[in-house]
Amino acid sequence: MPTTVAAPKTKTAPAVEKDFLPLQGTDYIEFYVGNAKQAAHFYKTAFGFQSLAYSGPETGVRDRASYAIRQNKITFVLTTPMRPNHPVAEHHHNHGDGVKVLALTVEDATSAWGETTKRGGKSFMKPTTLEDEDGEVVMSGIHTYGEVVHLFIERQNYHGPFMPRFRKWESNYSPPQTGLQHVDHCVGNVGLGQMNPWVEFYERVMGFRNILTFDDKDISTEYSALMSKVMSNGNGFVKFPINEPAEGKKKSQVEEYLEFYNGEGVQHIAMATNNIIETVTDLQKRGVEFLQIPSTYYETLPDRVGHIDEELNALRRLGILVDRDDEGYLLQIFTKPVEDRPTLFFEIIQRKGAKSFGKGNFKALFEAIEREQAARGNL
Ligand code: FE2
Repeated sequence: MPTTVAAPKTKTAPAVEKDFLPLQGTDYIEFYVGNAKQAAHFYKTAFGFQSLAYSGPETGVRDRASYAIRQNKITFVLTTPMRPNHPVAEHHHNHGDGVKVLALTVEDATSAWGETTKRGGKSFMKPTTLEDEDGEVVMSGIHTYGEVVHLFIERQNYHGPFMPRFRKWESNYSPPQTGLQHVDHCVGNVGLGQMNPWVEFYERVMGFRNILTFDDKDISTEYSALMSKVMSNGNGFVKFPINEPAEGKKKSQVEEYLEFYNGEGVQHIAMATNNIIETVTDLQKRGVEFLQIPSTYYETLPDRVGHIDEELNALRRLGILVDRDDEGYLLQIFTKPVEDRPTLFFEIIQRKGAKSFGKGNFKALFEAIEREQAARGNL
């Protein structure tokens, strides 16, 4: 990166506070899984991801195999250990399949590491340059909640399919895409009393702001409650809501997650579509299972959100939720957990003006989750 000289600042016109961690968006999400080959097949078949790149013994990486798959701007990497006594094997033993890396695209991974570690972020990876014939990627990283890490990826000087040490993955099996466009937000579940410390971490270490707070009065059902704060970076491209359990009569869904994930971790990843009715119709045909919403939810919907473009019957048939903020509305739906442990699930979201989140959907969502929890004997 060429060095630029900052213009002298005058006292009469104070500069707007500079974003010390400019983020261009989510670069990729890496899952540690028990069987990466099968997981990649699942995400291709069920969600419409396309084969992108592969890394493993054949590319000189002896200890693990990784499959990179992509749909529009969403890139997943599925990694599995080749042998026991390996950090990836240990992670899988503790957590089952789950998210290890939330990677963020930056222009300068060295600066991102310097700025965040200087503010108290715990280093996971010092700035490291990976090179091959397609150019170079600089990456660095810090720890966040649980065993999750943020990697900062600087890739403007790289022209290969994904990363050095990966080769293009050519596959004859390519089910069509389902209209998923980009990562909208990634939610973390943390332990009792840990939400505010992690909110403070994202503010202090990464320069995020708290754009929305849900307390236990907003998010409670007859049985359980949780609290949530939505953290956003400066340009709004990266949003990390943080949940913690709250006192309720029975075990909250966050507690169930923490118990079965054996610690804090990523609860759900929301992926945006431009046409949620088409996308969800397609996903259901491919076998993706969604939470069921009682049809009474739709009786009060028009009063709650006012006019919407979508036909109510289609939303009811698919179980899509609608909510509103002051700028518009949004449509969302949640899958069941995609593992046998009741841990990680996905959200499909379409925003129609709303940049934030409404409060109206939470009760319907949590009651739906509790019905599933009760069926598992965990409520
Ligand atoms: Fe969400």
